[in-house]
Amino acid sequence: NSEPSYDDQQEIEELISSLPKRKGWHSSGLTLYQNFWYSSKFLPGVISFQRHFLARDSDVLIVSKPKSGTTWLKSLAFSALYRAQFNPSEANANHPLLYSNPHALVHFLEQKYRGQPAGQVPDLTGFANPRLFATHVPYDSLPESIHRSHCKVIYICRNPLDVVVSLWHFVAQVDAGDRAGGWSSMEEFFDNFCQGIDGYGPFWDHMLGYWKASQERPEKVLFLKYEDLKEDTAGNLKRISEFMGVPFSEEEERNGVVEEIVKMCSLSSLKELEVNKTGRSISSFEDKSYFRKGEVGDWVNYISPSMAERLKNIMEETLSPFGLTF
Ligand code: A3P
Repeated sequence: NSEPSYDDQQEIEELISSLPKRKGWHSSGLTLYQNFWYSSKFLPGVISFQRHFLARDSDVLIVSKPKSGTTWLKSLAFSALYRAQFNPSEANANHPLLYSNPHALVHFLEQKYRGQPAGQVPDLTGFANPRLFATHVPYDSLPESIHRSHCKVIYICRNPLDVVVSLWHFVAQVDAGDRAGGWSSMEEFFDNFCQGIDGYGPFWDHMLGYWKASQERPEKVLFLKYEDLKEDTAGNLKRISEFMGVPFSEEEERNGVVEEIVKMCSLSSLKELEVNKTGRSISSFEDKSYFRKGEVGDWVNYISPSMAERLKNIMEETLSPFGLTF
């Protein structure tokens, strides 16, 4: 393992205990760190990742706020980046995506750094080069080595109205022990989301951090929207591949490789796989909870017009001035 060991866990715990706290849907509550709210349980891993991860120039990092299309983007990027090793053709019954949940193939780095024995960093040596990882950490809080290196960042965001509804359904499926008691009304959940008090929120600052970075450093940060990916999955998959430095050749396009990947990574395909019905890649979350409807505009079925108005006004005030609209 090339990364140095460290002994700052005690210090991290002391730091976290001194930070502002709020109630959240997660039983451990939320802690405010560098202007964003984190599940207190996950924050030690976030800080260890931030302090100790050493990026390589060849790394690719998938970033999102939860419920924005992370699982989908992980599967698309994985299939495209490693297509020389793993043929994405329908005829290949051994493709890793058929036997592993996308979160088991593309790991969240803050999870890898969480709960390590004191003084040890996670062993990342077994990952294929180029390495493909993921995180939910906001742009300004990314490890210094990610900012300094030439590694690439692919960010996905989604209409906050659909995000909050997706999150509401997701939370309902989380193990009862990890959910905060008395956190059961959609109104309260929604109110906190609107105030920016939810995991990796405020959503507007999360999106704007990567939005601005994608404009300042387009070679470094590719900014995607879930809605665009739905509308033209093949076109965006080609953009993603080109950005990662592995564009599809004319021959591959002629042979339908792009379409094969789109099909393999579609919600209907992934949802039906045994591994995604029964597995558990990240503790406390069942793999099946990552696959629901995958629709644009499903929020109309769950959010009242006045609630929607409130969130739209927030988007108008925070995102629209920067040209970010949904
Ligand atoms: P819904 O709850 O609206 O259905 P994340 O992966 O960031 O946790 O986001 C989960 C959302 O993405 C869920 O949205 C889920 O259904 C949707 N999703 C998961 N896999 C997908 C896929 N292959 N294609 C499209 N949407 C997908």
